[in-house]
Amino acid sequence: MAESKATNLRFHAGNVTRQERARNLGQKGCTVWLTGLSASGKSTIAVALEQALLERGHHAYRLDGDNIRLGLNKNLGFSAQDREENIRRIGEVAKLFADAGLIAIASFISPYRADRDLVRTLHAEAGLGFYEVFVDIPLELAEKRDPKGLYRKARAGQIKGFTGVDDPYEAPLNPELHLPTHELTVAESVRKLLEMLQGAGVISR
Ligand code: ADX
Repeated sequence: MAESKATNLRFHAGNVTRQERARNLGQKGCTVWLTGLSASGKSTIAVALEQALLERGHHAYRLDGDNIRLGLNKNLGFSAQDREENIRRIGEVAKLFADAGLIAIASFISPYRADRDLVRTLHAEAGLGFYEVFVDIPLELAEKRDPKGLYRKARAGQIKGFTGVDDPYEAPLNPELHLPTHELTVAESVRKLLEMLQGAGVISR
């Protein structure tokens, strides 16, 4: 858990309520958190969900593992400690987006349960919706897909600490949604996600 280094800080509230934001935007801000192995389909589903939401007039934005690691988190690698900090920062960013009224779609391997639970707690404490979605595919199939050739490299010993090969993945115990992506089309996954968001009152159409 990251320690606070700064002292003498006080939260400064604005004059706009969350309800006012929600009324303006026609949706409740929240975070949809996609977790799963590399090549499980997280980014593909995130892209399709974002598009489907925008087509319905909603406001959504993707936070994607590779993209964030090219910028905000470029100083982090793949040790357990760096993955923890990766998820902590993204959790805070997603929370800000959700507080701003957006539907933040985060797609990160996020292999450690404790790290994901921390993000869940951050949202719960702020009264913001957090929906953990397990993008579930058997490791053998992820390895067969291997769109970036990373499993092959990991098996050849050219990447150390690759999730699913020589680094752990802790599956969610109680996700809000389970998507076995090897048994669903992308459109079916998106439909389930939209139903979940409608059921939770995040969106109404
Ligand atoms: S996480 O574990 O910290 O959540 P994140 O989702 O940000 O990972 O980044 C995963 C992406 O980094 C993968 O899609 C892959 O392209 C790349 N990557 C490079 N090295 C590794 C590694 N050792 N383990 C997992 N992914 C890796």
